[in-house]
Amino acid sequence: MFNSELIQRLNKLKTPFYFYDLDLLDKTILSLKDSLELNYNVYYAIKANNNSKIIKLINDHNLGIDAVSGEEINKALNCKINPKKIVFAGVGKTKEEIILAIKKKIYLFNCESFDEVKLIDKISNELNVTTEIAIRLNPNIDSRTHKYIKTGMFDTKFGIQIDHLSDILEKIKNLKNIHLKGYHFHLGSQIDDLNVFVKLSQVSNEINSYLKNNKFNIRDINLGGGLGINYKEPDLNLIPDFRSYFNVFKKNLICFDNQKVHFELGRSIVGQCGSLFSRILYLKKSFNKNFMIIDAGMTELIRPALYNAHHHIDNLSSIEKEIKYDIVGPLCESSDTFAKDYYLNESKLGDLIVIRSSGAYGEVMSSNYNLRKKAIAYYSNDLF
Ligand code: LLP
Repeated sequence: MFNSELIQRLNKLKTPFYFYDLDLLDKTILSLKDSLELNYNVYYAIKANNNSKIIKLINDHNLGIDAVSGEEINKALNCKINPKKIVFAGVGKTKEEIILAIKKKIYLFNCESFDEVKLIDKISNELNVTTEIAIRLNPNIDSRTHKYIKTGMFDTKFGIQIDHLSDILEKIKNLKNIHLKGYHFHLGSQIDDLNVFVKLSQVSNEINSYLKNNKFNIRDINLGGGLGINYKEPDLNLIPDFRSYFNVFKKNLICFDNQKVHFELGRSIVGQCGSLFSRILYLKKSFNKNFMIIDAGMTELIRPALYNAHHHIDNLSSIEKEIKYDIVGPLCESSDTFAKDYYLNESKLGDLIVIRSSGAYGEVMSSNYNLRKKAIAYYSNDLF
């Protein structure tokens, strides 16, 4: 992914920093769009990465935005996203956020509890508007991914229990300022097993028929996001296999006339285009371990510390034989560890290290713990 000329240029920059390959992002989005059916729409999950240059590219390609906070809505609007292409999800929307979203005339609210639906109805009444909503359902399907990023099981806080649907529908019928236009699922993230999406399609078909039989005119079927990427060997799949993913729905999902299907992909769009660069500060042997202490830590990329996530790591300055390292950050936490017993070319102080597949849930989850400054982001079309 990095040729020697690019490495030379990157090597001059102060670490740690993020680097985004916008050509790869462009190709990824083209491949995504190429795999879509006519009635499929993608709402990019902006939570994965909200950098303006990335959002602008998303907008150039005419994708919509899935936002989960008022500030994400504002960010999308500032990047010139058409409000009619913004959906608003999230389990805990505040009154202020709901007012903002209504006033900005976004496309649809994805609601996660009846209390929320009631509040949206009340606010809509006060503002003298009718608001279109979708109901997020929790179908209790195991997405077979890390337990912190499973969202469609009985013990997760998301959505409305699927067998409470008829109850909710009865209550919604009495609300005057709400129009139920859709239903929504999101089962989890970094899902590799496409069978999970077969199951999701089957559940969606049941719900779709049920709603039709109950005379609800459903326009939007939102199947969430969740498609995983190849963290182990990113160069083998720089662009995720969108075709196989959408083919699952093409084969298994039933839509009625004029229904639109929404996908809220995040990671699979931006994951591989971002990398975190760092330099080796110190090397030390301790007991039987080789510790490599680098200048990036969990403040820049928390995924390994939080989910024990694997990211591919390379030393771009060494071609020596590989030995085993524990690659750790500088923060005062033992979990500030990128990898244990990781084979890397034998290294020296100052070598340039790259942590791959960091474009999604990397920079957006950074913190200033230990008062660390936010890492700068560079882009492939910058003149640095
Ligand atoms: N829609 C909803 C309602 C979501 O909650 C999410 C992600 C997405 C769409 C996008 O999912 P994706 O296509 O990116 O898998 N910080 C974790 C991931 C958290 C995902 C949260 N929700 C990580 O670093 O793995």
